[in-house]
Amino acid sequence: MASANIDPQSDDSKICVVMVGLPARGKSLIAGKGEWEDITFKVIWRLTATAMRYLGWVGIPARVFNVGSYRRFNTPQPAATFFDPHNEEGERMRRAAAEAAMSDMLQWFNAGKGVVAILDATNSTQERRQWIYEKCHEADIEALFVESICDDEDLIMTNIKEVKTTSPDYKGQDPEEAALDFRNRIRNYEKAYETIGDNEKHYTYVKLINVGSTVIINQIKDYLSSRLVYYIQNLHIKPRSIWLSRHGESEFNLSGAIGGDSNISERGEAYARALPELMRKSGIPENTKIVIWTSTLKRTIQSARHLKAETGYEKLEWKALDELDSGVCDGLTYEQIAEKYPEDFAARDEDKYNYRYRGGESYRDVVIRLEPIIMELERSENVIIVTHQAVLRCIYAYFMNVPQEQSPWMEVPLHTLIKLTPRAYGTEEQRFKANIPAVSTWRGKGTSAKHQEFPAKVDSKEESKEESK
Ligand code: F6P
Repeated sequence: MASANIDPQSDDSKICVVMVGLPARGKSLIAGKGEWEDITFKVIWRLTATAMRYLGWVGIPARVFNVGSYRRFNTPQPAATFFDPHNEEGERMRRAAAEAAMSDMLQWFNAGKGVVAILDATNSTQERRQWIYEKCHEADIEALFVESICDDEDLIMTNIKEVKTTSPDYKGQDPEEAALDFRNRIRNYEKAYETIGDNEKHYTYVKLINVGSTVIINQIKDYLSSRLVYYIQNLHIKPRSIWLSRHGESEFNLSGAIGGDSNISERGEAYARALPELMRKSGIPENTKIVIWTSTLKRTIQSARHLKAETGYEKLEWKALDELDSGVCDGLTYEQIAEKYPEDFAARDEDKYNYRYRGGESYRDVVIRLEPIIMELERSENVIIVTHQAVLRCIYAYFMNVPQEQSPWMEVPLHTLIKLTPRAYGTEEQRFKANIPAVSTWRGKGTSAKHQEFPAKVDSKEESKEESK
């Protein structure tokens, strides 16, 4: 057995991502995606929740330290005047919250497991940033300041109304009064706010101006920071959907063999023919341009053939979307693998995410090779990806935040179109089943591969296969 737990792309850097910006500037806060109109909401979502999801997906231990939640221990519902820089008591308590968050963050890094911390606060003065920079520097942590600047008053008010008034600070209060109070709180922050200035040029920072329409990058030093910055830069807020489909049932699927480069079966071909209609049924907004991505293997190209011909959509073939390489087991059925390589078979069940086939890949390897695909997907708008079971599990896990150990066991049936659409509070998922039978290639942990028909109907070929077992 050959397995690996090490991400060859990671180095030993520890990074503290320091959010900088006034409240309601789309800097932090929310783990959800908004509608197009709710523009600031989306920026907010991107910077923390998306980054956290991405880091989790690539297996980089990350945690958010939200100074506001520390402050709320002592001051759950402060009035706007609490944030007036001339209010000494308010200043003292806010400072104490920042110190508590910093102390927990340093402890977390010291415990040895942390790689990326997100310090979520306004961090809006040079003095505060210098303090953070020095604290991080002493602990050998790279501070990466991410400033979100927004001077569009309409965007700010939208954000205040739709986001901030749902904050725990205003729970149970009249929304109009809450919005007004929050506007005043911002004015108090504004009194003391300093954008990252020329005298802070020795810091590593990214400035995202007006929803990222301009991006300024300064002094990125290590590989992980550059990966993070590249990721943040690629995010956009346009409305879109991502469609995911496995290829139509293949000849290998019918025989229960894994891997290979077989053709699609007759039923697979029926699915390929049905795919354009299934896409339409799933709902495509008018004038939407969709790009088709397939792997380089025959079964995905054949499955997307009619979709391409009927719609004229642009099509790209990606090697990175090829199925998980099963090495020496390529072309075998699960039963044959269990017989020939019993230890490997058991080891894979034990830790499916990390198990690497002899001469092949693990799920972890697939995630690493999919990283550029995810970057490109984040830059893109509407895309349908026609690919393979293991690859689809990994892509799905990224969008739906599925934990690593769970993702290789997910059921992603054949002849089913999955539509993912970013919404206010996360990604919405819809599944559209084509009414075309196919085998099930799903195998539960600890079971010998049960090669079942899906949906329930069993055709004669499969029946005889079941009988001969
Ligand atoms: O059975 C279809 C298939 O795409 C194989 O080619 C591939 O090895 C397998 O699925 C991946 O699924 P699992 O990781 O559950 O074996």
